[in-house]
Amino acid sequence: MDDERLSTDERLDQLAQVLRYHEETKHHFFRYARALGYLDWANQPDPFRRFEGAPLVPLPVLKPDEAPRSPLYEDLYRDGAVATQPVSLRTISRFMEYALALSAWKQVGTTRWALRSNPSSGNLHPTEGYLLLSRVPGFPTAAGLYHYASKEHGLELRAEYVAEIFSRLMNPFPRDAFLLGLTSICWREAWKYGERAFRYCQHDAGHAIGTARIAAATLGWQMLVLGDMADDTLDTLLGLNRLEDFKGAEREHPDCIAVVWPAGTRAEDTTGARVTLPLSLDPDVVQTLARAVWHGRANRLSHDTPVPWEIIDVVSHASRKTETDGRVMELRGRGPAAERSSATSPYPGQPLAGQVIRQRRSAVAFDGVTSISADSFFTMLSRVMPRVERRLAERPMPWDVIPWEPTIHLALFVHRVDGLANGLYMLVRDRSKVEPLREAMHGEFAWTAPPTCPAELPLFLLVEGDARRSAVQVSCHQEIAGDSAFSLGMIAEFEETLQAHGPWFYRRLFWETGLIGQVLYLEAEAAGVRATGIGCFFDDPMHQVLGLQGTTFQSLYHFTTGGHVDDPRLTTLPPYGER
Ligand SMILES: Cc1cc2nc3c(=O)[nH]c(=O)nc-3n(C[C@H](O)[C@H](O)[C@H](O)COP(=O)(O)O)c2cc1C
Repeated sequence: MDDERLSTDERLDQLAQVLRYHEETKHHFFRYARALGYLDWANQPDPFRRFEGAPLVPLPVLKPDEAPRSPLYEDLYRDGAVATQPVSLRTISRFMEYALALSAWKQVGTTRWALRSNPSSGNLHPTEGYLLLSRVPGFPTAAGLYHYASKEHGLELRAEYVAEIFSRLMNPFPRDAFLLGLTSICWREAWKYGERAFRYCQHDAGHAIGTARIAAATLGWQMLVLGDMADDTLDTLLGLNRLEDFKGAEREHPDCIAVVWPAGTRAEDTTGARVTLPLSLDPDVVQTLARAVWHGRANRLSHDTPVPWEIIDVVSHASRKTETDGRVMELRGRGPAAERSSATSPYPGQPLAGQVIRQRRSAVAFDGVTSISADSFFTMLSRVMPRVERRLAERPMPWDVIPWEPTIHLALFVHRVDGLANGLYMLVRDRSKVEPLREAMHGEFAWTAPPTCPAELPLFLLVEGDARRSAVQVSCHQEIAGDSAFSLGMIAEFEETLQAHGPWFYRRLFWETGLIGQVLYLEAEAAGVRATGIGCFFDDPMHQVLGLQGTTFQSLYHFTTGGHVDDPRLTTLPPYGER
């Protein structure tokens, strides 16, 4: 049940389990985290979940230049620069396309696999998407829960809600708001990566929060993760606890529910009126809503039962949010284009947002030559700055989507940035954390501001030198970390944050890293280079590079950006060719 209060002992026990999971799933020079050690191809999970028997509402496959047309990529970062679109079948289609759709099929010989707008560790795609919509023209229900079928680019009707109850649920939110739900099927990652898979599911969820927030921005929509909800409420709302619908099929874990709404409706009133949004849905209304007409049974993804990884079950349970917090967030109308900047794009060619989103790919190799300009580098870094000095609602996109104080900083290995000395740098995303970081890291680090760095960017040179070998070494010997222009580790304020919030916050730390990664993926494309997320890294060797001891800070995700080399054996096919 919801609001199941945990005793202090239980909470400490669960925190200990989360910390143990983290420790045991570290990759070491001498031992990788436990996995099967081989790929059981016969039992490979299907990357596409379907609910058999659930009616499918096809979404129109829109051409890039069809309405709703894409804004300039740069305009996503200029407050008020993107025209607000109404919620319709077409705009929902665009939203899902940019958030979770297929972006291409790749083929080598007779082997074909799909890529998506959201990247995923090993391209295994544990993340499933749901929409909860009130009446939208073109949809068959007055209110319903839909599962997104990415291969078909369609929405499967899972539940027909009573419209009045759904309206009651949505009453605190702006007019025309709808909900996005994300869940994970951890087995998809565990099939390949074993025990470390739970981390990758959380990274991927963070990337999906990012693709969705940015998709919303292309339509002039706002989005906010309702981060205060108990996971039991998410289960009930998304039907994840309907055992009969998942009989013989792999279960889904709830990640998050986010509210999405067209800016300018009520909460974004340009008169500057203040409104408040709750960071949760009413659990009682959710219970009532779930007494709906349900459709469909989840398909089975693997032939055999999943290989059990007990520690994943333990951490999944220990990091569940058991209570609903009743916080609200105050929004203030931003006023017309209060933040609009007159600056032109720092990147060449003024690309459209849609183009950048559609062309995003992970580099499989970098050329070891291409450099980027210091201006591009600083722009990329400025895009991951959450501006913590502002209230949440006034933070820049996409940092307005996560209702918690950012806790991730970047340790950068700079290899090829014109006008910037090579070496190890630190971007402190919250300036008030400079001192604690400095104290925790090697005493001999310089902490000097690079001469050409904009004053508002808290970037510090720690030590000058060739960082390529260290970068490759700590990233599981992957050359992509050294052949790029720069690579990095995302350093979380770890143990104290978990103690302060609770063990459930573990997942949110990873979501934040995924969101940073998603911003950087698109920035790389816009700058004419390419990026790759790096989930495989040696945790403690990375901490040793920085001089970090204990678990006050932990590196949670690595990333690399530079001039890529394509694999000529691959053929690229359109995502929805037959339609
Ligand atoms: C969380 C995460 C971790 C990843 N780790 C690695 C990695 O360690 N090495 C690598 O070469 N690619 C890595 N990737 C890239 C994925 O393999 C890639 O996203 C996936 O194949 C899908 O391709 P796409 O990004 O071009 O859509 C990672 C991606 C994500 C999202």
